[in-house]
Amino acid sequence: MNNKRFNNSLGTSDYDIFKSVVYYYDDVQNNIAEETAKVVTDETKTILEIGSGSGITTLAVLKKIGDHVKIIAVDNEPKMIAQAKERLTDYKNRVELFTQEITAYLKTLPDNSIDGIYSGWVIHNIAPEQRTELFAEIGRVLKSGAFFVNGDKVAVDDEVEHKNHYDGYMKILAKLTELGRDDLRKEWTKHYEEDEIIKFTESEQQELLSKNLMTEPKIIFRELLDAVYVATKK
Ligand SMILES: C[S@@+](CC[C@H](N)C(=O)[O-])C[C@H]1O[C@@H](n2cnc3c(N)ncnc32)[C@H](O)[C@@H]1O
Repeated sequence: MNNKRFNNSLGTSDYDIFKSVVYYYDDVQNNIAEETAKVVTDETKTILEIGSGSGITTLAVLKKIGDHVKIIAVDNEPKMIAQAKERLTDYKNRVELFTQEITAYLKTLPDNSIDGIYSGWVIHNIAPEQRTELFAEIGRVLKSGAFFVNGDKVAVDDEVEHKNHYDGYMKILAKLTELGRDDLRKEWTKHYEEDEIIKFTESEQQELLSKNLMTEPKIIFRELLDAVYVATKK
């Protein structure tokens, strides 16, 4: 497995079909955007998005926050950045897009320079051994009092409950077969099977945050495998 898990058809227009079957997809995006908007203040200048993808989360956030805030959006996949550029043309003065691996990008930033970080469905894709370094960089670049909003696939620690969530998700993916896209169901199932191997759990997230001087994450939303959390840099 590598860090370029969207360099295939999962990163194309087929993503729209996938979105259409995940009944709570918009709830996750809206919760990330609403939570980010709640923690943005008049003093917030620069916030950063980990893994902009095609700019869906970026657009949702931009629509909810004031135009005094600049967003730095980073993604390591050129195809995704190209789509984000197109989606965000009306907001080009408020967003800077960078094609780079996120930890490598964060390393270019000074300590205590960012007012907040948000992310949607990215961190679970990053290999466990690289998450330690990523969270160290997150903690380093965030100012004291800055926010961290993460909407992601974060597994509950109870294995039975997690299996129920996983099985529920497989039922959702079965809808792709009903739509005549069994190929897509197979591709997403493979992605989800791989996610199980590098499972990002609630306890792992909590430990990485606390090690890097962040508060305990508050859960804002959960449906099956996906949840939205908010934490603050102490
Ligand atoms: C599922 S998409 C989500 C994007 C967006 N938040 C959305 O909901 O549409 C995940 C994105 O994270 C990016 N990504 C994964 N690992 C990354 C890394 N290590 N550095 C930068 N981007 C990464 C992928 O290229 C992909 O575009």
